[in-house]
Amino acid sequence: MAAMALVSRPAGVLPKISRSCLPAVVSVSIVQQRKLHQALIPKGKGGRSSSSGIAATVFGATGFLGRYVVNRLGRIGSQIVIPHRCDQYDLMYLKPMGDLGQIIFMEWDARNKDSIKKALEHSNVVINLVGREWETRNYGFEDIFVSIPQHIAKASREAGVTKLIHMSHLNADIRSQSKYLRNKAVGETVVREEFPDAIIMKPSEMFGREDRFFNYYANMRWFAGGIPLIALGKKTVKQPVHVADVAKAIVSAVRDPDANGKTYAIVGPNRYVLHDLVEYIYGVAHRPFLPYPLPRPLFHLVSKCFGLSPFEPWTTPDKVDRFHMTDMKYPGLPGLEDLGITPSTVEQKAIEILRRHRRYRYLETDLAETQPAKTVNY
Ligand SMILES: NC(=O)c1ccc[n+]([C@@H]2O[C@H](COP(=O)([O-])OP(=O)(O)OC[C@H]3O[C@@H](n4cnc5c(N)ncnc54)[C@H](OP(=O)(O)O)[C@@H]3O)[C@@H](O)[C@H]2O)c1
Repeated sequence: MAAMALVSRPAGVLPKISRSCLPAVVSVSIVQQRKLHQALIPKGKGGRSSSSGIAATVFGATGFLGRYVVNRLGRIGSQIVIPHRCDQYDLMYLKPMGDLGQIIFMEWDARNKDSIKKALEHSNVVINLVGREWETRNYGFEDIFVSIPQHIAKASREAGVTKLIHMSHLNADIRSQSKYLRNKAVGETVVREEFPDAIIMKPSEMFGREDRFFNYYANMRWFAGGIPLIALGKKTVKQPVHVADVAKAIVSAVRDPDANGKTYAIVGPNRYVLHDLVEYIYGVAHRPFLPYPLPRPLFHLVSKCFGLSPFEPWTTPDKVDRFHMTDMKYPGLPGLEDLGITPSTVEQKAIEILRRHRRYRYLETDLAETQPAKTVNY
C-alpha cells in the first residue's frame, strides 16, 4: 500500500513519514525501482523505436536460433542483453537488430554463477538457447543441458524474473539412445524444479538458412559420394519446423500471460519419411539423389572418426541416432497454433536454404519442377 501511495502521489508532494517507518518505505521503493525501470514500461506504436516492456537476457543468442529471436525481440522495441563468449567482431550482425543502445553485449562464463546473475539482474525475461550438438573436452552434454540451465533457472528465480523460456527438444526422453536427448529430458526436470513457471519449448529439428539439418544432408554429397541412411531412411518419420516459427513462438510466449508453466511441442505442419524428405532436399538442390543403406554400427564407426575433429565435427554417433529417430507426437501439449502462429511448410521455405547448393545453371530454375515430398500421418 505504501508503495502504491508513493507511485500515485503527484510530483512535488512529499509524504509525512515518521522515522520509525522509514526503513520499510526504503525497502519497498527499491522493489518498485526494479519494477518501474523505464525499459519495462511499454510505450510507442510497437515498432523498433518503441518500448515493448520486455527487457530480455538471451543466453545462446550467438547460435542458429538466437539471431532469429534477437531480431524478433528487437523489431518490437525490446531491450536485449546478450551474454557471449566469442569475439566482438563475431557479434556484429546482431547489433542492427535493435534500436540504438537497446542491444547490450556482455561477456559471460557459463561456469561462473556470478556472471549468470549479472547478465540477468536487470531483465524481466530470460531466454535460454544454450546448446551444442557435440561434446567438447570442456563441456559435456550434462553441463550444457543440465547444469547451465539449472544455474540460469535458479538465478532467474532469485532475481525475480517473471518469464523464463527454456529450449528443450521434441524427442527429449530419459530412455533415449541419444545422450543429447537423455540430458535434455533431465534438463527439463531440473528447470521445472528451480523455476516452476518456466515455459519449456520442445521443437523438432529446425530448418533455416544456417541450419544443421537440410544443409547437413545437402552437403553429404561431398563426403560420401551418396547419401548414407540407416534402412534407407524408410523407418524414420520427421516433422521439421522452420526456425523463424520457433522464434515467433518464443516471442508470443513472452507476451502471453497464460503461457507461464506450460510445455509447448513446436513442430512443423507435415510429417515426412526421412527418405522422402532427403529426396526432396536433393530435388530442390537439383543434385542427383543417390541413397544407400548403411548399418547403424558402421555409420557409428564412420561418424566416430568425424567426431575426433577438434573443430565442429561434421557428424557424430549421437547425431546419427538423433536424425534416425522418429519424431514423437504430443497431442496433449499446446503447439504453434495455440500461440497464434501458422507454421510454414518445408515446400515454402526449402528453396531459401537450398538454392546455394544448386549448380550455377540451375540457380533460377522454377521450384514447380520439383515434386513435393509425400506426407504421412503416422
Ligand atoms: N537446431 C535445432 O534443430 C534444434 C532442435 C531442437 C532443439 N534445439 C535446441 O535449441 C537451442 C538453440 O539451438 P541452436 O541450434 O540455436 O544452437 P547453436 O546454434 O548450437 O547455438 C548454441 C548457443 O549456445 C552457446 N553455447 C554453447 N555452449 C556454450 C558454453 N559452454 N558456454 C557459453 N555458451 C555456449 C553458443 O555460443 P558460442 O557461439 O559462443 O558457441 C551459441 O550461442 C539449443 O538448446 C538446442 O539444443 C535445437
